[in-house]
Amino acid sequence: MMQTTFTLRQFKPKDLDEVMYVNKICLPENYTRYFFLDLHGRFPNTFIVAEEIGDIVGYVMCRMETGPPDWGLLGIARKGHVISIAVLPERQRRGIGQALMHKVMQGMRTYKAKECYLEVRVSNTPGVNLYKKLEFKITRTHRGYYADGEAAYVMTQKLR
Ligand SMILES: CC(C)(COP(=O)(O)OP(=O)(O)OC[C@H]1O[C@@H](n2cnc3c(N)ncnc32)[C@H](O)[C@@H]1OP(=O)(O)O)[C@@H](O)C(=O)NCCC(=O)NCCS
Repeated sequence: MMQTTFTLRQFKPKDLDEVMYVNKICLPENYTRYFFLDLHGRFPNTFIVAEEIGDIVGYVMCRMETGPPDWGLLGIARKGHVISIAVLPERQRRGIGQALMHKVMQGMRTYKAKECYLEVRVSNTPGVNLYKKLEFKITRTHRGYYADGEAAYVMTQKLR
């Protein structure tokens, strides 16, 4: 494949079909059109796409939440929750996933989130390695988290 450079930008509603295509190719967890558009409407700074020669080749989308902090004192922390991230198979392993994560964590800071967390299948070596490379820590394991019964690691990173 010819090597080109990807660019990152915020999702726009016109990208929906392409993002849903990437999601369907890459992950068994799929969502309604409303679900994608609702997350974009509420948290536009944390719905990012990677584009290459005019095609969407990856995306990440998130939700801001509040809950008990994994770091620091007692109380309530604002957290950015990565709901879904994927890069088309033929475009993987070129730094796009890592770049999407960096960009989305910047977006979370604009919403004053102090932590970023996500669930990942315990068998998903590419995913787990990506987050470890970004210094996420496994903070818990959810047994039977996925529809097929597989467990999830919850992985968390402090946002500085
Ligand atoms: C996880 C995913 C988004 C990574 O995207 P990517 O663009 O290939 O990631 P990058 O090229 O930025 O890789 C960053 C690091 O992740 C790890 N990684 C990525 N792919 C890997 C693989 N196939 N095997 C082992 N480690 C891998 C490596 O540590 C890599 O760093 P390195 O290339 O310097 O070794 C991609 O594999 C994907 O879309 N998978 C299917 C969907 C999915 O599982 N999403 C995550 C659900 S939580």
